[in-house]
Amino acid sequence: MKKISIGVVGAGTMGSGIAQLAATAGHDVLLVDVNDTVLQKAQASVQKALNRLAEKGQISNAEAIAIFGRIYFSNELKILKDAHWVIEAIVEDLKIKSELFNELEKLVVDSCILASNTSSLSINALASTCRIPSRVIGLHFFNPVALMPLVEHIPALQTDKEVLDTTLEYIQQWGKLSVIAKDTPGFIVNRIARPYYSEALRIYEEGIADFATIDYAMTSIHNFKMGPFALMDFIGNDVNFAVTKSVWEACFFEPRYKPSFTQRNLVSAKWLGKKTGRGYYNYANDLPMPDQENRILLSGIANRILYMLINEAVDAWYYGLASYEDIERAMTKGVNYPMGLLHWAKELGINHCLIGMEELHQYYKEDRYRPSPGFKKLIADLHV
Ligand code: NAI
Repeated sequence: MKKISIGVVGAGTMGSGIAQLAATAGHDVLLVDVNDTVLQKAQASVQKALNRLAEKGQISNAEAIAIFGRIYFSNELKILKDAHWVIEAIVEDLKIKSELFNELEKLVVDSCILASNTSSLSINALASTCRIPSRVIGLHFFNPVALMPLVEHIPALQTDKEVLDTTLEYIQQWGKLSVIAKDTPGFIVNRIARPYYSEALRIYEEGIADFATIDYAMTSIHNFKMGPFALMDFIGNDVNFAVTKSVWEACFFEPRYKPSFTQRNLVSAKWLGKKTGRGYYNYANDLPMPDQENRILLSGIANRILYMLINEAVDAWYYGLASYEDIERAMTKGVNYPMGLLHWAKELGINHCLIGMEELHQYYKEDRYRPSPGFKKLIADLHV
């Protein structure tokens, strides 16, 4: 692998993780942030993470020192002038990201790839503000970068195929798994995962079950690692609500993605989850017990959420947001689902899942529950 010099702008949660990853792969990394305190924190956190790996014997002490030595921390953008790639991980704001890219284009060589780690903004829109839009690409890492194996590559309409190929080659060499997503709101993972949260909230709002019982249904019946409410509390309700709202708005107010008042109220009350000690659960107290006995209720809840997730995956596949394989990989590696959703549909019976959706649609008469036309295509393809 050619040793290239990688610039990372934004030394927060994501930027420091990306810098550590690239340095571990042997690259010289230039990590830039406008905030000196953040830079100092990044320095300390990368060093701590590397020391921990050395203590566990996953790398030697000499390697830890060498990796750390390859990262150069700076508050000056101009050190990026010779970078071959710059990965941006600054604040989630199109105007600010675009200003940064304009500044970078004055500094770097024309062949330098400009990647954005945005989780929700349009890469087409960002590229359109650049002098050379063909070098811009979305590279969506997951948090924490060191542990999460997935990276979504999002080429804009303007992106050169060569730029995509280069990022695919390097990300693979860095030990991560790539998927390619069209530039649509939420890309693959953050879009297909929406019903995990929104349908759980809807079930709660209908008074069907409490948070603990809905969580228990998903972990006990379908083996998800965390139930939806525990997961939202872990992610932070402010972050989860913002993603939901942004996907809903960017999808022209698609009813499937409509945010919930329950979650909005929690955000307004600053019950943001684990980080504030209170969210759906109050972490100062013992957590409430779920209703573990009512198997019919638990199965009904778990299947309803699963059908909605499968519907979303089938729809993404039908409309070509990503390939079949990438949709499967994204959900198992980006959010640790126990099985790829399309494979899951086949295991349950695609027609069975379609009927599940039709029954919900029939009952509620809401567009939110309309089955994807992709079910019929999946069934037809199976019989070819
Ligand atoms: P963060 O708030 O931890 O870090 C952002 C850093 O950018 C801050 O240290 C800030 O000082 C710096 N910054 C802001 N404007 C700057 C500029 N013009 N030049 C240089 N530095 C600047 O944010 P986080 O969580 O690391 O997110 C960064 C990006 O990654 C966002 O686009 C976010 O949507 C995306 N993302 C975040 C994930 C997460 O779980 N936190 C997951 C995947 C993507």
